Amino acid sequence: MSRFVLATANPHKVTEMRAVLAPLGVDLVDRPRGVPDVDETEDSLEGNALLKARALVRSTGQAAIADDTGLFVDALDGRPGVLSARYAGAGATDHDNVVKLLVELDGVDVDRRGAHFTTVICVAHPNGTWFCVEGVLEGTIAARPAGEQGFGYDPVFAPFGQGGRTLAELTPDQKNAVSHRALALRALALELAQR
Ligand code: IMP
Repeated sequence: MSRFVLATANPHKVTEMRAVLAPLGVDLVDRPRGVPDVDETEDSLEGNALLKARALVRSTGQAAIADDTGLFVDALDGRPGVLSARYAGAGATDHDNVVKLLVELDGVDVDRRGAHFTTVICVAHPNGTWFCVEGVLEGTIAARPAGEQGFGYDPVFAPFGQGGRTLAELTPDQKNAVSHRALALRALALELAQR
């Protein structure tokens, strides 16, 4: 059985990762208490995910898995992108970020509101080897928030193929069937199974 320490402390993500990887015999260990968050100083999702995975390898001596996600909006030249978590400023809430996004897109036509989520997941080993995988979900930014499920930008992101519903209007199972994170996790599972 392979064993990895997880960089994320988000229980929602931990559950989702275990659900996909446990059947493959992959044991995911929670980040030890006292291991601090890493500042995301790189300018790409892969750079930041790798930064987090490598920092965890250094502090635990064990193989580690870290992820990073961004929302890329076509009409905003890819913003908020790598800065999605801090779009409305340091310490911004999900609500602050969603409001800022809708203000920036005010007056932008429905056919110019294309966007995608990308999740990158990186694995780093104590011997210095590493690899990353990614998952992408295409859709559009809705004119106004809808739905109560999920988190982050879910209330304003309507994935293609879901009848115009936002991610926040899908059940967790429906979201997990199509989401950027689930796709990245499946790519990770495939990669781990081949090694
Ligand atoms: P993180 O890299 O997962 O911490 O996410 C970066 C930013 O993207 C944060 O603002 C999250 O709220 C947002 N985000 C990440 N995943 C999702 C998602 O599945 N739906 C909506 N927003 C997300």
